[in-house]
Amino acid sequence: MSNGLLKGKKGIIFGALNNQSIAWKVAERAHEEGAQLVLTNAPIAMRMGEINELGEKTGAPIIPADATSVDELNNLIQKSMEHFGGKIDFILHSIGMSMNVRKGKHYTDQNYDFTMKGLDVSALSFHKVLQSAMKQDAMNDWGSILALSYIAAQRVFPDYNDMADNKSYLESVARSFGYHYGVAKKVRVNTISQSPTMTTAGSGVKGFNEFINFSEKMSPLGNASALDCANYCIVMFSDLTRYVTMQNLFHDGGFSNTGVTQEVIEKFGQ
Ligand SMILES: NC(=O)c1ccc[n+]([C@@H]2O[C@H](COP(=O)([O-])OP(=O)(O)OC[C@H]3O[C@@H](n4cnc5c(N)ncnc54)[C@H](O)[C@@H]3O)[C@@H](O)[C@H]2O)c1
Repeated sequence: MSNGLLKGKKGIIFGALNNQSIAWKVAERAHEEGAQLVLTNAPIAMRMGEINELGEKTGAPIIPADATSVDELNNLIQKSMEHFGGKIDFILHSIGMSMNVRKGKHYTDQNYDFTMKGLDVSALSFHKVLQSAMKQDAMNDWGSILALSYIAAQRVFPDYNDMADNKSYLESVARSFGYHYGVAKKVRVNTISQSPTMTTAGSGVKGFNEFINFSEKMSPLGNASALDCANYCIVMFSDLTRYVTMQNLFHDGGFSNTGVTQEVIEKFGQ
């Protein structure tokens, strides 16, 4: 299905690890909608090699960058502009990692070196991407930059651990940088708060299978899939949403506005 929504647009996609990744689906859909792409991921993720398949499928070069390294981000953005022969229209930041979650550290017993690493990878990296793009004047006017978030930024989901704090920071960066980028260049900056989704990052969260089922029952439309999330990203990159900026946009089948559903209530019946 293509509506040519991104015809002539050029974008960088961070975070396609394998074909479960939300970023993978966004790259496939952006390609179908006519965009030209550069793919990137941390050098360590590249070694798994799967991204090469996506590069071939979408005709996109792959430029490694650790999203915590300002030098590597500067290089990525500069090389992308050389490849495109001009400025960039959209960027997807689809990156998340908590060392505390990985190492099984409880929220109340954090290793703060792990905390700082997770914050850098999951949240500060978004500021670094934005700042690198702005300093190199890399974005076309009315460009669109997105990061992916989760509702644990607003409400407590105990096993989401310090990722909740990282997502709060991420959403705040979208607001604050969105102001400055809007004034300076009419570039819009938003986060999409996605339903739980079965991916490598998602399934790292303790009790994820039970949680995904709970969320499904608590959402009037059910959980949104990775492909549906990709479709929302495409709309946000297109010219149809030029005045949407500095927002956290829920893409969750109605979960965020639901107190309880009949199906969940019935589970507590005698
Ligand atoms: N899966 C879910 O349930 C869910 C729900 C809401 C939001 N999200 C968010 O969606 C985004 C994408 O995650 P996903 O679920 O597709 O999982 P994923 O594991 O496929 O993607 C995470 C990506 O982050 C990359 N990454 C990690 N460290 C990096 C670094 N230092 N530099 C550059 N890249 C790095 C990984 O290589 C990987 O490609 C994340 O921000 C995640 O928090 C996921």
